[in-house]
Amino acid sequence: MGAKQIQNPKSKIQNRNGVFERMDKMYRRQRYFYDLTRKYYLLGRDKLIEKMNVAEGENVLEIGCGTGRNLIILARKFPNSRFYGLDASAEMLKTAEAKVSAEELKNISLKTALADDFDYRKTFNSENPFDTIYFSYSISIIPTWKESIENALANLKSGRSVYIVDFYDQKDLPAWFRRILKSWLEQFHVKYPKELLPHLENLEVQNLGKLSVNSIYKSYAFIAEFQKTD
Ligand SMILES: C[S@@+](CC[C@H](N)C(=O)[O-])C[C@H]1O[C@@H](n2cnc3c(N)ncnc32)[C@H](O)[C@@H]1O
Repeated sequence: MGAKQIQNPKSKIQNRNGVFERMDKMYRRQRYFYDLTRKYYLLGRDKLIEKMNVAEGENVLEIGCGTGRNLIILARKFPNSRFYGLDASAEMLKTAEAKVSAEELKNISLKTALADDFDYRKTFNSENPFDTIYFSYSISIIPTWKESIENALANLKSGRSVYIVDFYDQKDLPAWFRRILKSWLEQFHVKYPKELLPHLENLEVQNLGKLSVNSIYKSYAFIAEFQKTD
């Protein structure tokens, strides 16, 4: 399976609230220096990758995969598993496609799609739900994050996990640091959703799954795992 042709989002999917255009506008130029700059502050991505143990033949999806940085590391590490990425920005996916081709990775497939509006059958022409789904620094940029988590769970096999790595509350870091980070992130419309972890706890209370959360780098970021009920 090679990297697939990117769909024209407007012809395939309803462009809800202009998300595709907004993300393309934000990343059209940034995609050229994205990987270089983000490695200094999207912390915890490699910790999440280390945590993920992917068995041969399993299907893994990244929601909001951007330049494909995480998928490429995983696809190299687990060459006999299949990796899928979706993103609202076709511009970001141009960079991801170019990197996947340059690395000659045959086990990555990319599609332009929305986190709250994809389906494993229609979007990826796949017969089975995913074995693992993860969000890496995408939840904090998706206003419809509740619907996106719900949709991720609907596209996941029972007993398997959704992972999230993202900014946390930084409560153990100095106030000046929190202020600088907050105003920097606002430029990119990124905001730690305070209600996210309570929302996941509530899903656990409803017996929809089991939650575990690790705060990392003095609560700079967190990694959450939500294992869907069998
Ligand atoms: C901060 S980047 C993270 C990229 C990558 N996951 C990483 O760890 O480097 C967030 C990504 O989410 C995508 N995105 C934003 N809103 C989205 C949505 N509603 N559906 C799918 N992707 C979305 C953006 O286009 C962008 O590529």
